[in-house]
Amino acid sequence: MRILVTGGAGYIGSHTVRQLIAGGHEVVVYDSLELGHRQAVPADRLVVGDLRDIDHVDQLLVAHRIEAVVHFAAYAAVGESVAHPAKYYTNNLLYPLQLLDRCRRNGVQKFVFSSTAATYGVPEVVPITETTRQLPVNPYGATKLAFERALADYADAYPFGFCALRYFNAAGAAADGSIGEDHTPETHLIPIVIQAATGKRPHVEIFGTDYPTPDGTCVRDYVHVDDLAAAHILALDKLAPGMKLAYNVGIGRGYSVREVIRTAEDVTGLKVPVKEGPRRAGDPPSLVASADKLRAELGWAPQYDTLKAILETAWRWHKAHPNGYDG
Ligand code: UFG
Repeated sequence: MRILVTGGAGYIGSHTVRQLIAGGHEVVVYDSLELGHRQAVPADRLVVGDLRDIDHVDQLLVAHRIEAVVHFAAYAAVGESVAHPAKYYTNNLLYPLQLLDRCRRNGVQKFVFSSTAATYGVPEVVPITETTRQLPVNPYGATKLAFERALADYADAYPFGFCALRYFNAAGAAADGSIGEDHTPETHLIPIVIQAATGKRPHVEIFGTDYPTPDGTCVRDYVHVDDLAAAHILALDKLAPGMKLAYNVGIGRGYSVREVIRTAEDVTGLKVPVKEGPRRAGDPPSLVASADKLRAELGWAPQYDTLKAILETAWRWHKAHPNGYDG
């Protein structure tokens, strides 16, 4: 298939691009490199550009006779979305709507979308299934949900099919340690814990110890980035016009912040200095996926089914690239 991957030089995008290329697909990566990394994708696949330049995107759709779009490009920091909703509504909704319409006009009939557990807000029941009510509690989740709705309306009206993959907590790195997680600034727990273990930051602050969870800290479902990437390939294989697919992508098991820290100490053999702090605004106590639908319908079978296995790959990446891609 001829596939345009927006945001393909980012963390999850680059792992997916690698699998798409290995699968024999013709891949064009479109990335502004604001958050993505040039080194994360083969140079001959990368087109540097911004989604706001929709005519540039349109030219690529036509020139490469694109059949499917995998759309990663987005901002994904919950706290920032609360402080700067305009940034999120513009980049995560307005530009993607333009992209979607250029897909329609150019006959692109398959679309895979990076959605998020944040579309569920604070769920009343965990594990979360795909039919759990989507009631986002921040602009990030709201923009992702709004775009899911647009995709569904397009699929009803036009010869078009989509798959929304609702990611839980992406983590880890390619098994060979060649590509991995590198955000500036880093806000995600696992890289922060590794940075604290290796002395790159003085400690990891635990955001809240009074949650209604077994040890008082937040519980999340960590899914390996290559397993997450694999879900995109399966979705592309399945997609056909008229399909409206949505899947949770998580392991179906939750780990607390304290468990992540303990497991990181075990994997690295290093002590992780910890400071207990207040809750971070907007954090639901527990987000755990039911990924039964993904397993049953697409045959998804994650290779990494424990936090330890995921952390081992994150650690390998960090050791090979202690300062990320630019080190
Ligand atoms: N945490 C800490 N200390 C830190 C960083 C994180 O205690 O320094 C905690 C958070 O409070 C949270 C857990 O570790 O309970 C995981 O936090 P992350 O920031 O790594 O991930 P989130 O669960 O907040 O966010 C992730 C994605 C978002 C997405 C969300 C879906 O990064 O893009 O899942 O709910 F929206």
